[in-house]
Amino acid sequence: MVEFSKRVPADGTDAVGAILKAAADPQIISFAGGLPAPELFPVKEMKAAVDKVFDQHGQEAMQYGAAKGVTALRELILKHVAAKEDVHAELDNVLVTTGSEQAIDLVGKAFIDPGDTVLVEQPTYLCALDVFKSYGAHFVGVEMDEEGMKMDSLEAALKANPNTKLIYTVPNFQNPTGRTMAVERRQKLAELAAKYDVYVLEDNPYGEIRFAGKHVPAVKSFDQDDHVLYMSTFSKILAPGFRLGWLVADKKVVDKLTVLKQSADLHTDNLAQFAVAQFFEDNDVDAHVKEISDLYGKRKNLMTDGIKQYFPAGVKYTDPEGGMFLWVEVPGVDDTVELFKKCLKHNVAFVPGDPFFAGDVQPGTFRLNYSNAQEDKIKVGMKQLGDALQEAVK
Ligand SMILES: Cc1ncc(COP(=O)(O)O)c(C=O)c1O
Repeated sequence: MVEFSKRVPADGTDAVGAILKAAADPQIISFAGGLPAPELFPVKEMKAAVDKVFDQHGQEAMQYGAAKGVTALRELILKHVAAKEDVHAELDNVLVTTGSEQAIDLVGKAFIDPGDTVLVEQPTYLCALDVFKSYGAHFVGVEMDEEGMKMDSLEAALKANPNTKLIYTVPNFQNPTGRTMAVERRQKLAELAAKYDVYVLEDNPYGEIRFAGKHVPAVKSFDQDDHVLYMSTFSKILAPGFRLGWLVADKKVVDKLTVLKQSADLHTDNLAQFAVAQFFEDNDVDAHVKEISDLYGKRKNLMTDGIKQYFPAGVKYTDPEGGMFLWVEVPGVDDTVELFKKCLKHNVAFVPGDPFFAGDVQPGTFRLNYSNAQEDKIKVGMKQLGDALQEAVK
């Protein structure tokens, strides 16, 4: 058989795939996945938007389109980021991507040669690690606390790694921890990127799903001289199945990424772009996002209530103000995958923390998702998880 390239992960290295497969058993209450609540997908409204698109732009929507994306959608994104994130840009700064995952991939492809350093939060979004790894990145993990990436650790890492190209951050309700970066750190991050001449890739899929606390301005809003590449997505405020994300950055970067995108998929699905632009025109999207946020807030509260009621003493957890995930640390556990197996026996699942770490793993950590499971399942599942943990730490 012809050998796969070095970019292809070796057999048996998809630990998360194996976990999600194990958690898919219908008997198991799974807090492992990362799916939005499907009952809030605006199916009827989106159907109406698609019908309108077929009536008004049918041929255009079914034709090949521009690699940068449909102009109406790019204009909408510009207005959206100005209103929500105080990020002000021009049409030439906007690239529509096939999910925001593609933006991570294009940035990786554009900037990382084997051995280049990428600085990442410790822990961080595991699919971003997979992307950067496929381009040969050398990772350096930057310590976090409750206020996000620590800026003194970041500056030390920048000094120690002069071949750094990128700092990757998920500043709002981070996947996996649910933590949000403090505003002073965001300003400092933008300053450090300029000082050391590296890019920040600011990945913000969850920022609008806020159910408590106050909005914190984007890192990009502090970006004085184009060192922040900002990306987000319609996946969490609308639905992930459309695979629509975007990147806002310096025109020179957007132009290069557009060339790479052309090689990847020519352009993002035209029908989805037209339909989402139409949906925004015809619906109160803010009200829809509030409905999502309220539901996730309620589910998060049920989950933290369950932690307080059932988990062993000494367990630490984050209490996010938005997003879809919280993070648990169980002291005294050395092998989180073993812990996962014990929890499966109690018919409950999570994602062990290990794959979210670029460097040294912190044992006894795991991620819980609260957006997808219905309320009754959360109540029962947290009791089962509590019982499993009580048994494991005995
Ligand atoms: C931090 C982060 N970035 C990017 C993505 C990719 O989202 P999408 O490709 O659906 O826009 C996700 C998905 O869960 C995520 O959690």
